[in-house]
Amino acid sequence: MPYWIKYTLTALLLQLVSVNSVLAEQKSSVELMHWWVSKGEQASIAVLLQRLSQQNISWQAQAHAGSGTSRYGDILIERVAKGQPPTASQVIGYEIQKWAAQGVLHPLDELAVEGEWDEVIPNDIQLLSKYQGHWIAAPINAHSTNWLWINNTLLKQIDGQQPDNWHDLIQLLDKAQTAGIIPLAIGREAWEHTLLFESVAAGVGGAEFYRHAFIDLNAEALDPELLLVIFQRMSQLRTYLDHDFGKRYWDDATKLVLQGAALLQVQGTWVNGEFIALDLIPGVDYQCFNFPDTQGMFLFNSDQYVFFKDSKTDTDTRSRLVKTLMDADFQRDLNLRTGAAPARTDVPLTDFNACGQRSIAHMRSSNMRSSNMRRSLMGSIAMGNANPAHTKEAIYRVVSDHLYGRITDAQAVSRLQAAVTTTPEQSIVIEPARP
Ligand code: GAL
Repeated sequence: MPYWIKYTLTALLLQLVSVNSVLAEQKSSVELMHWWVSKGEQASIAVLLQRLSQQNISWQAQAHAGSGTSRYGDILIERVAKGQPPTASQVIGYEIQKWAAQGVLHPLDELAVEGEWDEVIPNDIQLLSKYQGHWIAAPINAHSTNWLWINNTLLKQIDGQQPDNWHDLIQLLDKAQTAGIIPLAIGREAWEHTLLFESVAAGVGGAEFYRHAFIDLNAEALDPELLLVIFQRMSQLRTYLDHDFGKRYWDDATKLVLQGAALLQVQGTWVNGEFIALDLIPGVDYQCFNFPDTQGMFLFNSDQYVFFKDSKTDTDTRSRLVKTLMDADFQRDLNLRTGAAPARTDVPLTDFNACGQRSIAHMRSSNMRSSNMRRSLMGSIAMGNANPAHTKEAIYRVVSDHLYGRITDAQAVSRLQAAVTTTPEQSIVIEPARP
């Protein structure tokens, strides 16, 4: 055989082998997309990646900040549209339903039956993880949003106590203001403002009102007098914010609390994750108390993963990834870092810190039969677990405009009533880009 033919054949063969090994490599490896970028979140994603490596699953992880917003969602939309979705993506709330409706997700029913997910995942979370009765997402935790995160040194310094009701909270914030400390730290984004709003709303109206108004979207539940009290309280809280709140993100606000510049922040249990990453100890360095008047309620935000049909990953590798995410030991190890409750209710509490144990206990009691009647485990509006994106965004606009002082309490009341009944066509996306 002439030399050049031999040479070309060998080259072709080599190319084929390398193409095949790239394909094989792609098939048995997973690509994950997530938004865990802060210090605590990075420590959390590391738990997952390490677990995959231990099982010889090779991985690529793409992080994009954005906590379930359009900043994150747009990147995912683009990848799916190009036919190049990741194996799995972090998704929360109603976004899961949106993806499922497009028919691009792998159903997970077989794995769910094998892992008895129906038995161990709280009902209200299951409603978001299932589409038309079929499992299409794997819930890895349940954060809750109705918490105060308090710098304990400052609390002692101003001789403050755990606030049990609205009046106590105002007294506490007043004390901080008098001491020249920022009483309440918050960031610039509408979801953060809405997170504050949902605690105030749940505190004023109670669990039944919250569910009827923001989950069932029953316009009749939106009693204008009650809404006025909610916005009056939001206006009162505005007076405890510093002038720079419009320039920062949620984790910058957390830093203000931990550096002792601000007394407290109202945020989800992921702040526990930030403090854990710094080896801080509840009861010593910081305190976690339920937002006053929301004790016994668990406004949840469950981090979930969805799995795309078009991804290159083979079935076996994908199944191993799903099983890992839903494994009880993994959910314990992961959530020791995230600060959240494991989504599975059968994970032992023992290793969690005081804030973790408290929130896990709340989740389980608000999911139990007796308190299910009170139905106090409810999706967070801010995190898109309560209602569809167009409603959430319409609420964002009202609440954020109001917190920035652009509209009056009375205007906010009528705009909120309209927001709850907004149709998709009327909604506008308002996420500012993160620099
Ligand atoms: C949430 C997510 C949390 C945390 C938080 C702040 O959506 O559930 O795990 O990442 O955003 O980024």
